[in-house]
Amino acid sequence: MALLTDRYQRPIDYLRVSITDRCDLRCIYCTPLGGAPKLAHDDILTYEEFLHLIQVSMDLGITKVRLTGGEPLVRKGVTDFCRRLAGIPGLQSLSLTTNGVMLEELAQDLYSAGIRRINISLDTLQPQKFLHITRRDEFDRVWRGIQAAEHAGFDPIKINVVVMRGINDDEILDLAKLTLQRPYHIRFIEFMSINGDSQWVLQHYVSSDEILEKLLTVAPLEPIVSQHTNGPARHFRWPDAKGVIGIISPISHHFCPSCNRIRLTADGKLRNCLFSDQEVDIKSPLRQGATDAELAQILRASIDNKPEKHSLQSDVFRKCQNRPMVAIGG
Ligand code: GTP
Ligand code: 5AD
Ligand code: SF4
Repeated sequence: MALLTDRYQRPIDYLRVSITDRCDLRCIYCTPLGGAPKLAHDDILTYEEFLHLIQVSMDLGITKVRLTGGEPLVRKGVTDFCRRLAGIPGLQSLSLTTNGVMLEELAQDLYSAGIRRINISLDTLQPQKFLHITRRDEFDRVWRGIQAAEHAGFDPIKINVVVMRGINDDEILDLAKLTLQRPYHIRFIEFMSINGDSQWVLQHYVSSDEILEKLLTVAPLEPIVSQHTNGPARHFRWPDAKGVIGIISPISHHFCPSCNRIRLTADGKLRNCLFSDQEVDIKSPLRQGATDAELAQILRASIDNKPEKHSLQSDVFRKCQNRPMVAIGG
């Protein structure tokens, strides 16, 4: 199959699919206080529609699919959907990013359905702080969910930590030290402002260089070159550690030149960059009976228009107007 590239010659092979805008947490960096406006049920694509669009995107050259939300595990029937996706010939990687709340119940079923790679958000090891960050008292459940994922056989288990000054930056070492005993990837992510309050961003942003400096106070970090995916993380390991430390720096070392992804939102919009409000409606043509060739044309056009890069370094406070992070899926 021909390689799918955009006009900057970046190979595009990864589709992030947000299967719902609903979430059972309210993380302060993701969901506006008071919640986000909810999509109407009829506006959300059915699983059949997602399958159809994923198949069309695979015919064009997409080989990796990640399910996101909101929180993907709150959508009914998600494990059956995963099983159907896992059965599509030619899909090289099927993964899921979750907040972990439902994992204790679903980890085994997801594994049986064919999911092998799972990324779990966890920003703190302290239950009270978890309540402050997510506005829900679910730390214990998420922690049990992570253990359930490990027992089910997921490998690697990647844990996403969004670092915020004065909130959880004092836990960078505690979280990183999990890698000494456990085979997890602990990934520290620079906080990104999607449409948040600029004062808040200024106060809470921590650069990956600062995170690395802290980690180096414990022991040298050995860079790991061979990576499981060509995702945005840089990988390191402390000597003799069982797990891996990942650093994701969308702001200070932006990875736009190697960006390989597009997004499909729960309401059927193609979003060609996390930070661009430029979206293309593919749901209406799909529902009006467009042919696969016509749908492929719409996908192609969205990829062709993918911006070269975001402008967050020059304008840290640039806001995306049309959606909060929770309705994009990270
Ligand atoms: P792997 O392939 O397992 O490395 O997954 P991933 O890192 O692509 O996915 P995940 O859902 O775990 O996202 C990790 C972090 O990267 C989150 O904070 C996302 O918001 C961020 N991220 C993912 N894709 C993009 C992107 O295209 N641009 C930017 N700026 N950030 C992204
Ligand atoms: N900045 C950085 N990462 C974010 N995520 C959600 N909102 C933000 C933000 N503002 C992360 C979550 C989740 C992933 C999909 O995106 O931690 O793991
Ligand atoms: Fe929900 Fe994830 Fe956003 Fe937290 S980061 S509110 S868990 S979608």
